[in-house]
Amino acid sequence: MAPNYVMIVALITFICFPLSFGDDAMLPTHNYLIAKPNCNGSCGNISIPFPFGMTPDCILRDQFLVTCDSSLNPPQPFLENSSIEITSISLAGQLNVLKLISRDCYRDGISTNKTKPMISLPSLLTVNNTVNSFIAVGCDTYATIQGRYTKFGTEIEYLPYITGCMSMCYSIDETDDNTCSGVGCCKTSIPKGAWNRPITLSSYYNYSYTNMTNNPSCNYAFVVDQANFNFSKSYLSSLQNTKKLPLVLDWAVGEDKCEIAKRNSTAYACKSNNSYCHDDSNGYRCSCMKGYDGNPYLKDGCQDINEYVNPQPDYMCVKNAICNNTDGSYACTCRPDFSGDGYPECNRDNPQRKIQNIYLIIGITAGVALMVFIIFSWSYTAFQRRKMSMMKEKFFQENGGLVLQQRLRREEGSSHTNTIKIFTADELKKATNGFDKDRVVGQGGFGTVYKGYLKDNCIVAIKKSKVIDRNQIEQFINEVPILSQINHRNVVKLLGCCLQTEVPLLVYEFISNGTLSEHLHDKLKASALSLDIRLKVAAETAGVLSYLHSAAYPPIIHRDIKSVNILLDKSYTAKVSNFGASKLVPANQKEISTLVQGTLGYLDPEYLQTNQLTEKSDVYSFGVVLVELLTGRKALCFQRPEEERSLAQYFISSVEKGHLFNILDDYIVCDEGNEGQLKNVAVLAQRCLNVKGDDRPTMKEVAAELEAGSRLKHLWDQTDQHSEEIKSFLHDTQPLGFGYEYSEHSVHIDSITSHVTLPFPGGR
Ligand SMILES: *[C@@H]1O[C@H](CO)[C@@H](O)[C@H](O)[C@H]1NC(C)=O
Ligand SMILES: *[C@@H]1O[C@H](CO)[C@@H](O)[C@H](O)[C@H]1NC(C)=O
Ligand SMILES: *[C@@H]1O[C@H](CO)[C@@H](O)[C@H](O)[C@H]1NC(C)=O
Ligand SMILES: *[C@@H]1O[C@H](CO)[C@@H](O)[C@H](O)[C@H]1NC(C)=O
Ligand SMILES: *[C@@H]1O[C@H](CO)[C@@H](O)[C@H](O)[C@H]1NC(C)=O
Ligand SMILES: *[C@@H]1O[C@H](CO)[C@@H](O)[C@H](O)[C@H]1NC(C)=O
Ligand SMILES: *[C@@H]1O[C@H](CO)[C@@H](O)[C@H](O)[C@H]1NC(C)=O
Ligand SMILES: *[C@@H]1O[C@H](CO)[C@@H](O)[C@H](O)[C@H]1NC(C)=O
Ligand SMILES: *[C@@H]1O[C@H](CO)[C@@H](O)[C@H](O)[C@H]1NC(C)=O
Ligand SMILES: *[C@@H]1O[C@H](CO)[C@@H](O)[C@H](O)[C@H]1NC(C)=O
Ligand SMILES: *[C@@H]1O[C@H](CO)[C@@H](O)[C@H](O)[C@H]1NC(C)=O
Repeated sequence: MAPNYVMIVALITFICFPLSFGDDAMLPTHNYLIAKPNCNGSCGNISIPFPFGMTPDCILRDQFLVTCDSSLNPPQPFLENSSIEITSISLAGQLNVLKLISRDCYRDGISTNKTKPMISLPSLLTVNNTVNSFIAVGCDTYATIQGRYTKFGTEIEYLPYITGCMSMCYSIDETDDNTCSGVGCCKTSIPKGAWNRPITLSSYYNYSYTNMTNNPSCNYAFVVDQANFNFSKSYLSSLQNTKKLPLVLDWAVGEDKCEIAKRNSTAYACKSNNSYCHDDSNGYRCSCMKGYDGNPYLKDGCQDINEYVNPQPDYMCVKNAICNNTDGSYACTCRPDFSGDGYPECNRDNPQRKIQNIYLIIGITAGVALMVFIIFSWSYTAFQRRKMSMMKEKFFQENGGLVLQQRLRREEGSSHTNTIKIFTADELKKATNGFDKDRVVGQGGFGTVYKGYLKDNCIVAIKKSKVIDRNQIEQFINEVPILSQINHRNVVKLLGCCLQTEVPLLVYEFISNGTLSEHLHDKLKASALSLDIRLKVAAETAGVLSYLHSAAYPPIIHRDIKSVNILLDKSYTAKVSNFGASKLVPANQKEISTLVQGTLGYLDPEYLQTNQLTEKSDVYSFGVVLVELLTGRKALCFQRPEEERSLAQYFISSVEKGHLFNILDDYIVCDEGNEGQLKNVAVLAQRCLNVKGDDRPTMKEVAAELEAGSRLKHLWDQTDQHSEEIKSFLHDTQPLGFGYEYSEHSVHIDSITSHVTLPFPGGR
């Protein structure tokens, strides 16, 4: 990853600061001597360089005489006085010419028109055997070429040769374009160094066996530059109109090899200073030395190439260097702003280059730094991960996970089936999307409640406590399995917990419809709470408390009954929640001494005074909830006149004054039908709010009375089977909801935190 980054940085650097500037303009080429002084160096626009020339004075040897036919337009040069037309002469030793082709035509089996241009090439001119081939075209043709060729050995020998090919076909249709392989066209190579080349053309059958549509039918033969000749079947007739075809000739300036030629300095052709001699297939030629250009056959013909003016393809100076021409060579010096010797490069003083280098260094440094960073962060992450898992283990142990596990395992063996699950921290983190703020459904003295989605799509409420006192852990651990065993339809079920975090997390079933408090103190929602529903909620809550006090073993005191801790589902079924402050009543003990805990407004005054917690404290709190249900007022409200602040006191005084119906919630419809019922409930509430605990009824009695008084009585008195159906009907209506203790004006003296949260005045 990191090396790629370096490459990218380097690439960017180079893209932004290219190395080449490309500011060298091409300059015009210079002229050099072509012909001897006072000689005409061109015929038409074809240059005729020495040793070739157009007059005997202007040539080196007879073989190089060129005849310029100025009657043509443009004037055309010919080799000697032959019909070989020159198209170009190069000092590199080649001559491009056009040459007549040989032809032999037959009409009705009789040779009618034979042209046999017999041309002997001058001895120094040979047919280039690599680019040219001997080709014959015709359908009843054999063609031969013969002559001599130069063979270099210990001595130069001129050896005779003869070669040829044969081409047959019955009709034109047999031939293929671009294919010269014996049908209509044949081809053969010629020996190296060939010259003197008479061509013999003949027919085997005088064209009597062929079926050519055109008459006469001709045979053709020629040596041609293959690059400029492609066989086409149309040539079988059309070549009749073509007189000449291109041919490439090589020329040498002398028959001898350099070594011998140099001996006679008068005859030695390489006259120019700075020229040299090299052997060729049929003699020797001359060339200018490197760094010089021109005509090596003329005195002073090879001239220094001014590399400064006329840059060469193999120009050796680097960019930003000036090429200073020297005789036969050049020197590279760096431009004024640059330093170095011009080779291999001019760069040292180059600010652009410096910047490039700086960028490159920055790039590399950044790359290395990134790599180091990646390695470091990777190992740091790995270290953190290990540390995290060690922390989790530590928390698990600190939070009493081992003890809890043991207990749960023990209970697994027993008859209890409703054991709780121990969740991993990761599981709950995933369920709450990393304890996302958007998932918060409740917040209070105990901590925060999040809505969570477990892997099986089960919706849960996850309660995250505030930092807890380690001393309380054992108690917490004690309570968890017991609470998990409360299997009452009106109690929010504890599904499990997580001990891998610093503070234990509790996982509950999710109740969808919020708290009773919300419903009572919101005008819109309160209007939907009929007396029947209110009494049903009261009866259900009383049922839970009755169960906790009498049926559970050991008995449990909830200690924090309030409307905020009663949740409602869609069908207004009450779900008692928040057993965080609950106390187990040890066997054989009626009351236990604890730090006072609870919420102001709901708190049993007797308990507040004596610190003795009994079941009757829950009865008092329930009484306040009952009054809340009846009046729709808050248990404690600092905005009201002093005598009305405590709902319990206000209610009692109002009932005593006979003003009961004045303080009932506006949404409770009062009519003759329920007047008595309301009075009964009010009396019940009054009894629950008795200052002396002993004078309050037990929850069992309260529950029984409420059930009896409830209009829903007939529903709950049905057979078990029936009530099961109702239960399942109520459960199935909607997914369960949640709302957990949200307390604006409440005092929490939590069992977990052991600290008192004082109420604050103001608010709404
Ligand atoms: C060279 O010859 C051509 C044709 O032969 C002629 O047109 C031209 O003027 C001559 N040039 C010189 C410099 O004599
Ligand atoms: C020679 O001149 C003719 C016409 O003047 C022109 O078409 C042709 O391109 C020239 N050839 C060269 C090699 O300059
Ligand atoms: C010109 O050609 C004829 C025959 O083709 C030959 O006899 C004569 O010597 C040639 N002239 C020169 C100057 O080569
Ligand atoms: C031979 O061919 C040439 C060129 O095609 C032509 O001018 C001449 O008339 C022909 N001669 C005969 C006898 O066909
Ligand atoms: C023939 O022509 C080719 C291409 O121009 C060249 O390389 C070669 O030296 C010439 N001569 C011979 C004998 O092949
Ligand atoms: C071809 O023609 C020549 C003379 O024109 C004759 O001597 C020869 O026999 C003929 N060949 C054939 C195969 O007809
Ligand atoms: C030659 O061609 C003519 C017509 O194109 C045809 O009638 C004749 O049969 C052909 N002869 C042979 C031997 O193919
Ligand atoms: C000859 O044919 C080949 C392939 O068909 C083509 O590449 C080439 O250019 C042709 N040459 C000429 C002179 O037409
Ligand atoms: C050198 O060459 C010239 C001209 O070709 C000739 O006249 C002379 O005899 C030669 N000298 C020797 C020593 O071969
Ligand atoms: C050519 O070289 C010869 C000897 O090598 C020398 O004497 C002469 O001055 C040179 N000519 C030029 C133009 O440099
Ligand atoms: C080129 O080189 C010559 C000799 O080496 C020197 O005298 C001259 O000053 C140089 N010119 C430049 C432009 O460097």
